[in-house]
Amino acid sequence: MTIVKRKFDVVIVGAGGAGMRAALQLSEAGLKVAVLSKVFPTRSHTVSAQGGIAASLGNVTEDNWHWHMYDTVKGSDYLGDQDAIEFMCRQANEVVYELEHFGMPFDRLENGKIYQRPFGGQSQNFGGAQATRSCAAADRTGHALLHTLYQRNVSANTQFFVEWIGLDLIRDAQGDVLGMTAMEMETGDVMILQAKATLFATGGGGRIFQANTNALINTGDGLGMAARAGIPLEDMEFWQFHPTGIHGVGVLISEAVRGEGGYLVNKDGERFMERYAPNAKDLASRDVVARAMTIEIKEGRGCGDENDHLLLKLDHLGSEIIKSRLPGIRELAMKFSHVDPIHDPIPVVPTAHYMMGGIPTNYYGQVVAPYKTGPEEVVTGFYAVGECACVSVHGANRLGTNSLLDIVVFGRAAANQIIEDLKINLHHKPLPEDAADQSMARLARLENQVDGESVAQVTDALCKTMQTYCGVFRFEDTLLQGVEKIKEVAERVGRTEIKDKSKVFNTARIEALELDNMKEVAMATMISAEARRESRGAHARDDFPEREDDNWLKHTLYFSDEHRLDYKPVRLKPLTVDSFPPKKRTY
Ligand code: FUM
Repeated sequence: MTIVKRKFDVVIVGAGGAGMRAALQLSEAGLKVAVLSKVFPTRSHTVSAQGGIAASLGNVTEDNWHWHMYDTVKGSDYLGDQDAIEFMCRQANEVVYELEHFGMPFDRLENGKIYQRPFGGQSQNFGGAQATRSCAAADRTGHALLHTLYQRNVSANTQFFVEWIGLDLIRDAQGDVLGMTAMEMETGDVMILQAKATLFATGGGGRIFQANTNALINTGDGLGMAARAGIPLEDMEFWQFHPTGIHGVGVLISEAVRGEGGYLVNKDGERFMERYAPNAKDLASRDVVARAMTIEIKEGRGCGDENDHLLLKLDHLGSEIIKSRLPGIRELAMKFSHVDPIHDPIPVVPTAHYMMGGIPTNYYGQVVAPYKTGPEEVVTGFYAVGECACVSVHGANRLGTNSLLDIVVFGRAAANQIIEDLKINLHHKPLPEDAADQSMARLARLENQVDGESVAQVTDALCKTMQTYCGVFRFEDTLLQGVEKIKEVAERVGRTEIKDKSKVFNTARIEALELDNMKEVAMATMISAEARRESRGAHARDDFPEREDDNWLKHTLYFSDEHRLDYKPVRLKPLTVDSFPPKKRTY
């Protein structure tokens, strides 16, 4: 097969909010930018973000960035890097006003200011009364953001490669990243995209769990490519289970429902969050609410014939509020659980939602990793932002609506860093002879495999293993079994066969390539989770129920070769203010 080569200043993989915010900055700076996306850009997963984007505008209650920073550090269970968290919270207002000026249609208050609603873990005055910090466009904030950024990119002449999947990174003998290989999904054609800077904005990998709120495209592609190229994955044991996924379906019901005054009840009609979080109640941090719900179900207070879910009640808000502030939620509830929330509660369960870990970066979006066994350093030419990156601003648990903030702050910051770096790195570095060999070998294996298992069967086994052995609560025996089981599944991934190879447009080929990436994400998750012998944020171990700062206030690094783990310190020192030292976390 002849492989076409094209040169760009910057190649971005992923056209969600992070990729598009970066692309806009870079295209407007006059750089030649290619954005690859598995789907049409406005179908990227950012489109599903519902409740808002956090910023301390103070339009409804008094607020400031320092309080936001405190909440984010506390929400992270002190695993978040405080320099990055300060960087993000300080820039929040500016990036939101910038979006407003780009034309993003935020809802408005009576006085014309941007509408804000309360979300979990938001407080005034360092842990005081509830703050109201999430700027919203009804319950379709991600949709509004993504369309705004897409339109701006079209006018900035960003070049999109739609329905292209990234295959592998290209690194030279020094470990510098020189671009990547990618495949057009319709034709199977492979291309080398040579670039002075390669930016991953590939989103999360929530599809590794059987029940998740993620789109089909969220298969951890950036993490898979990074891991295969020798880059470690950071803090992969930390997965957020969103308290309110629709029971049996997984579709997200926004925390905005509870922000607007909705609440959870058990089979006795009891508002049980009052017992678990007496102050914040239903607006406690997500890990706290998800655990409380799991306990309610386990202790027999779940709802329905099987006592296997809880109910989210919002009828008391009245049809006016539901129709104007939560129209998308009403539509989803009617479509997927056949209830109209104006009259009836929505059946919900905690559902895998967000990956706090990812490709290790600093707050300029530069990937920071050891090369082979060397010291940790910036990987020249390689950047990552958004859910696929671990900055780490979310630590062990992310606060709702900090994800949209993360993608625009760090999308912009990475682009600014690339603009500076490209003033020095003026030329493309020569590609190694074997630039496409790894990808061609992966594709050849798929073509040549006979008597293998179907991709769907192995994917199913991977998702079931993650769901069963690595859920909201984790146990020593199940984690140990989980490690063995996921290793077995990983072996099977290497023997999958594409049935009916004659089809050029063969979705099984794409799914097989995605499964290679899911395997890396799943292995990193299970092995990191088994090794962390404490409970912190979303990682709740039955056998080690307490947080252990003396031993475990550190980030995990998982190396795919040999499934090796290493650890690095948390950056506890903020940029300009005093550190928030770890203390007991209550809501
Ligand atoms: O509940 C939500 O609307 C989700 C927001 C988020 O994950 O940040």
